[in-house]
Amino acid sequence: MKRLVIAIDGPAASGKSTTAKLLAQRLGLLPVDTGAMYRAVTLRVLELGLDPHDEARVTEVARRLNIRQEFRDGTVRTFVDGRDVSEEIRTPEVTRWVSLVSSYRGVREAMVAQQRAMAARGGVVLEGRDIGTVVLPDADLKVFMKASAEERARRRLRELQEKGIPATFEEVLADIQRRDRLDSSRALSPLKKAEDAIEIDTTHLTIHEQVERILEELRRRGLDP
Ligand code: DC
Repeated sequence: MKRLVIAIDGPAASGKSTTAKLLAQRLGLLPVDTGAMYRAVTLRVLELGLDPHDEARVTEVARRLNIRQEFRDGTVRTFVDGRDVSEEIRTPEVTRWVSLVSSYRGVREAMVAQQRAMAARGGVVLEGRDIGTVVLPDADLKVFMKASAEERARRRLRELQEKGIPATFEEVLADIQRRDRLDSSRALSPLKKAEDAIEIDTTHLTIHEQVERILEELRRRGLDP
């Protein structure tokens, strides 16, 4: 039997990553954080001192980059050419530029090719913005997660506070709204629910309830391994 392939899409801080990781643990799948891949390209562009507006140079970086992910102790670690960049890809500087970098056609083509290769043998849960619509249109289950911008800002603020990173609710909310706008309005592979995806509004759900919803859907479809 072919191993399970699950696609999870949704806006920033909608609960995708946590859900993907818990689901992966419950079902013995490998979680792939595709946002981290676009962040890794952005990090390299900034480290090399390149202008993120220079589409040709940025695309060249993306094509050359060897990105790998590992699932360890419940977290997804991201490696670029063998170096662990899991922390560096979360800085405000990378977050500021990643929507622009991920809007370039050549960058997306390079990342989508790597993502499909990671999913080729099955046993994976990929999370991002275009997984159900573009990367894996034949996934066994597609989930689209959403939540109000205010609730997502509260969650992101809590995460930042836990890491000791100073920020205000207004700043975090403004950043989430800016990325929603850019990610949903770009010409290529915008954030959009796939027609055959199930939609989960997580505004009033706990993480446990989100995961349960998905497990229930898998059982209903006879896909529970
Ligand atoms: O999930 P995240 O916040 O780490 O994603 C970072 C950015 O990458 C996000 O603003 C849009 C982009 N992205 C994308 O274009 N396609 C994906 N499949 C995943 C992320």
